[in-house]
Amino acid sequence: MKWALIGYGGMGHWHVSKLKTLPEIEIAGIYDILPEKRAQAEADGLHAYPTLEALLADPAVDFVTIATPNDFHKPIAIQAMAAGKHVISEKPVTLSSRDLQAMIDASRKYDRVFSVHQNRRWDEDFLVMKQIYNENMLGRVFNIESRVHGSRGVPGDWRNTWLQGGGMILDWGVHMLDQLLQLVDDDVISTFCTVSHVTNDEVDDGFKAIITFGSGLTAQVEVGTSNFINLPRWYMQGENGTAIINDWALNGEIVKVSDWEKRDAVPVVTAAGLTKTMAPRTEETIKRYPLPTVESDVRDYYRNFVKAIRGEEKQLVTHAQMMRVVKLMEACFKSAEENAVVHTRI
Ligand SMILES: NC(=O)c1ccc[n+]([C@@H]2O[C@H](COP(=O)([O-])OP(=O)(O)OC[C@H]3O[C@@H](n4cnc5c(N)ncnc54)[C@H](O)[C@@H]3O)[C@@H](O)[C@H]2O)c1
Repeated sequence: MKWALIGYGGMGHWHVSKLKTLPEIEIAGIYDILPEKRAQAEADGLHAYPTLEALLADPAVDFVTIATPNDFHKPIAIQAMAAGKHVISEKPVTLSSRDLQAMIDASRKYDRVFSVHQNRRWDEDFLVMKQIYNENMLGRVFNIESRVHGSRGVPGDWRNTWLQGGGMILDWGVHMLDQLLQLVDDDVISTFCTVSHVTNDEVDDGFKAIITFGSGLTAQVEVGTSNFINLPRWYMQGENGTAIINDWALNGEIVKVSDWEKRDAVPVVTAAGLTKTMAPRTEETIKRYPLPTVESDVRDYYRNFVKAIRGEEKQLVTHAQMMRVVKLMEACFKSAEENAVVHTRI
């Protein structure tokens, strides 16, 4: 299969470096709107097409990845599918569910495989949490918290602009909401979201969403860019235990109750009173476990896409999944704008 890249920026380089290691995919070349990026590609030993039209007219190219700023995903994807190419769009696939529907319609009309690069489904921290959840290690899970925190504000590029699809809901939120919907196999029944504008007025530089599923399970998804002390990456509560992943290095643990009845504790005395309710459990009534280990290779995303083109496998990131994530982001924006709970079923 021959592949070409559109948009040779930060993520474009990442795609090239990964695909160079996959023998089943040959790199035909790249196109970038900036001549200096095309010159860079030539210097890196890649063929640079002079125009997008030239790339799309190359019959050798089977499929393309679009790694441009977010507002270009839709027009380029539709143009590429009309030219007979299968398409991977970088995330967020596009900026609204209406635009996504137009892209899905194009994929049906031109009979092309069309997907979005939800590469963070292969993140180990997510896969560890998924295993804990799927194997019911904590008993019935009633709360999941997923956070990423930085302290540098929104990167100073197109991510600062609303028209180009900037802001953290569309940048990081899209990954975390996709992960959440992969984790919990249930309908979302309500969404409440607040956004922050600490460093940026035009787009959200962070957000907090509380998402409730049909079963009553709640999730908190949070992105912050003004956090000089980070909260844990993941925190999951089940009836019989709690799991935590503190950081990208996967430091964390599972703590489970071993004797629910032995609840007696030495009260904690604070300056203004004492509490037994909030006193820590004694070590003999809990058991600590290391986090499970998982194997992951993000290149499986591309392996699957190629097999989907050949009709050998179903595509892993489906249109229905893409639509749910975009609708959930829309619910977050609506909730933040109206300062109200959005009751749309997703
Ligand atoms: N999946 C991930 O983990 C991940 C990580 C980072 C970025 N991304 C996504 O990748 C995309 C690119 O992000 P980035 O960080 O690489 O941005 P970037 O600004 O570093 O690169 C974008 C590139 O696209 C080029 N470009 C702009 N308009 C173009 C057009 N109309 N046609 C062709 N080229 C054009 C720019 O010149 C630039 O080289 C975004 O959609 C972003 O959300 C995904």
